[in-house]
Amino acid sequence: MRAITYSRYGSPDVLTMSEVSTPVAKDGEVLIRVRAAEATKSDCELRAFKYAVKWFWLPLRLAIGVTRPRRKILGGYFSGEVTAVGAAVTGLTVGDQVFGTAGLRLGAYGEYVALPASYAIVAKPSNMTFAEAAAVPMGGLNALHFMRLARIRAGEQVLINGAGGSIGAHAVQIAKAMGAVVTGVDAGFKADFIRRLGADHVIDYQAEDFTAAGRLYDVVFDMVPVSSYAGCIKVLRPGGRYLCGNPRLSVMVRSLVTNWFSDKTASFAFAGESREELLALKAMIESGQILSIVDRIVPMEQAAEAHRLVESERRVGAIVIAIGGDSAAGH
Ligand SMILES: NC(=O)c1ccc[n+]([C@@H]2O[C@H](COP(=O)([O-])OP(=O)(O)OC[C@H]3O[C@@H](n4cnc5c(N)ncnc54)[C@H](OP(=O)(O)O)[C@@H]3O)[C@@H](O)[C@H]2O)c1
Repeated sequence: MRAITYSRYGSPDVLTMSEVSTPVAKDGEVLIRVRAAEATKSDCELRAFKYAVKWFWLPLRLAIGVTRPRRKILGGYFSGEVTAVGAAVTGLTVGDQVFGTAGLRLGAYGEYVALPASYAIVAKPSNMTFAEAAAVPMGGLNALHFMRLARIRAGEQVLINGAGGSIGAHAVQIAKAMGAVVTGVDAGFKADFIRRLGADHVIDYQAEDFTAAGRLYDVVFDMVPVSSYAGCIKVLRPGGRYLCGNPRLSVMVRSLVTNWFSDKTASFAFAGESREELLALKAMIESGQILSIVDRIVPMEQAAEAHRLVESERRVGAIVIAIGGDSAAGH
């Protein structure tokens, strides 16, 4: 099969098209013919091995490969079709159209990927193309995890910092579905996109510092690694909740102090990415509460360009890589 591979950490140019052996589904696994994979910020970080949050470096390097990447095929989030099932697999059958996560196994930048059937892999939403569906699991699962953790009540003021990114764009929509009044913060050129997703207010972070504007929020969900922790806590109302998707060590320590000595809370738990959460996202998509966030579909041969678009932020929404010969724009 064809796959986008990399054998050393570096710039997008380390991504190359290769011919590799097709994986097989072992006991408890499914083989999926991948139709589309999101080019995520996480894929770019794994490829370059550059993290804004420095403490991620050591545990991830040990997991991914100390001198060079152990897994040559990136791609954590995908859509496709089940083409084979191993022994003892229940719930998924050959021919199912699915979307989901490959976890730290990665591999969705290849035409086929074999994954445990127990992973968050479920039927693709009926009203999304393969490309649209592939852009959901990373942002959607992380956003749903944090929005549930925030225990949002209808009418609450929720601020999403990084609202134009994959996770933020889903968080805007999920918070709206929970009944919140949503403020999205991101670069000004993404304002129309963030409003289209349902945000009531949009702040251009290059023009205004939301931590200094004097407005208060019940929940601040922060995906930006360079935010001011004190500023985010300051804009919380009494009983307010701060959720950090990119926690620096200093934030983790300071959150303990916030939780012990104030009526505000700070959380940074990582998303578990469960089937139940992906099924909840599918239901929200099919009921029209979550819209597609796809900006562009890029052919597999241009994977390096897809990563450049993500890293340079020359995009409004998700960049999706079409895997294999079939159209990712189809249902
Ligand atoms: N906690 C977890 O479990 C978890 C899981 C997956 C990923 N992550 C991490 O979370 C981060 C975000 O993920 P993502 O995929 O949503 O990334 P993304 O798509 O790149 O979104 C980040 C957004 O934040 C914007 N931004 C940058 N600086 C900002 C600022 N100062 N104020 C407001 N917005 C700003 C970016 O826009 P511009 O750059 O155009 O300004 C971009 O739209 C990544 O670093 C990723 O590794 C965490």
